[in-house]
Amino acid sequence: MGRTYDKRTNYKKSQKEPLDIADLLEKTHFETIMAFSEALEARDQYTAGHSRRVMEYSKSIGQRMKLDKQEIEDLRRSALLHDIGKIGIPDIILKKQTKLTGEEYAIIKSHPETGAAILKYIKSFKDLVPAVYHHHERFDGEGYPEGVKGTAIPLHARIIAIADTFDAMTSSRSYRKALSFRTALSELERNKGIQFDPDIAEIFIEILQESPYYFTRFREPEYYL
Ligand SMILES: [Fe+2]
Repeated sequence: MGRTYDKRTNYKKSQKEPLDIADLLEKTHFETIMAFSEALEARDQYTAGHSRRVMEYSKSIGQRMKLDKQEIEDLRRSALLHDIGKIGIPDIILKKQTKLTGEEYAIIKSHPETGAAILKYIKSFKDLVPAVYHHHERFDGEGYPEGVKGTAIPLHARIIAIADTFDAMTSSRSYRKALSFRTALSELERNKGIQFDPDIAEIFIEILQESPYYFTRFREPEYYL
């Protein structure tokens, strides 16, 4: 004994640990996203952990903006997958330590489109596509791939753009050292309304200033979801 049938699914389920199909699908969905993200980060030690940090920063901004639970969940998932299109970029370009040629830079810039094209194959990822596709747009319209401007850029993409840039600035790369926390904050401030949505940048600056240790929390090597 100890097991009964779930009327909806006809599957046996334990009385101790009831099996909820919706929960299971949700969990599997998130695990698939984590696996995608890990596959990308495994390629380059310098970007390891980047997607998770972008996810944490984006989530905090979303919570402060009082987005609803489902929106925050979608935001977290898009943030984890924002650079998934880089999986299609050859190592020789992705890890190049010297200046990129025009052609190589164009290949790097194709990653939001590649990411969106990958995710479109999976129906349950369709709500994540706009944020992934537009995460390199700029508030002044000078970004890519479409050059969309201001609040015409999807909200999640505007949030991820800030989280992504902040994490990139505060991370060392093979070709440059990380900026200090203070310098990165002043870059966020300086780019309000230019690169970034000014209201969202202000929210993130507030979060970071209120709790300066907030950002180091996600940078510890032992950090895990
Ligand atoms: Fe990107």
